[in-house]
Amino acid sequence: MNNSPKPGHAIGVFDSGVGGLTVLKAIRDALPAEDLLYLGDTARLPYGTKSARSVLRYAARAAEHLRKRDIKLLVVACNTATAVALPELQRELAPLPIIGVVEPGANAAVAACAGGKHLVLATEATVAHGAYSNAIKTLDPTASVSELACELLVALAEEGWTDGELAEGIVAKYLNVALADVDNQPNSLILGCTHFPILRPAIRTVVGPKISIVDSASTTAEVVSDWLTENEMHNAAGQGAQHLLATDGARRFARVGGAFLGQSLSADDVELVDL
Ligand code: DGL
Repeated sequence: MNNSPKPGHAIGVFDSGVGGLTVLKAIRDALPAEDLLYLGDTARLPYGTKSARSVLRYAARAAEHLRKRDIKLLVVACNTATAVALPELQRELAPLPIIGVVEPGANAAVAACAGGKHLVLATEATVAHGAYSNAIKTLDPTASVSELACELLVALAEEGWTDGELAEGIVAKYLNVALADVDNQPNSLILGCTHFPILRPAIRTVVGPKISIVDSASTTAEVVSDWLTENEMHNAAGQGAQHLLATDGARRFARVGGAFLGQSLSADDVELVDL
């Protein structure tokens, strides 16, 4: 960091693409005065099918880029990067404080159904790391957890095809086997990828009304808020500025990202950067 972190500095947030905007929105809703700097590494998306080595390298570059812009806190709004790289990022970028999304997501699931059966929908890399199983079992040893890789849902979300027959059909294709045993249904479905909350209506249609659907966006915003309070880092005079960066495709980022943020964006709202 060029300067030591100050309350007036922005909160940095990054993901492989637009998915982390679900977390950005939750932070913005919870902390409207904070300035937010978001980076979507769209040139390298998806992270979820890449090797741990590549995810680590990409995540380190994204984090380093945001650090150079004077942030006071970094949120890794990508479950894949959190699962694969959080400890390394925390080590490499120390003393920059870094918060991931897996632990907050696990907290949300345990709060929704203690001792329950959880089914995690995530990317291949997140599932391969068993990050949610570990985090949930640490919080609640009586819970049972299974994890399902649903990589195509990332592409659906990035394409903006988030509802209707096509989205529901693909969600059903992934979930049919897991939900086939009617006497052994999960109590909670965890959206363990920040791209998936935008598909929540399609997922709800497929799973029916009884299963809780949880994601990490609002619990991550709570962790951010607690950190600001504990460290006296709230931006009391902030205007809630939002700056968006992407590594490729500003127009596409704006088109799809607008739906994630609930506001219309144009390509001029997105600064292209090279990592
Ligand atoms: N949004 C990301 C996640 O939370 C990753 C999607 C991808 O790049 O595969 O895991």
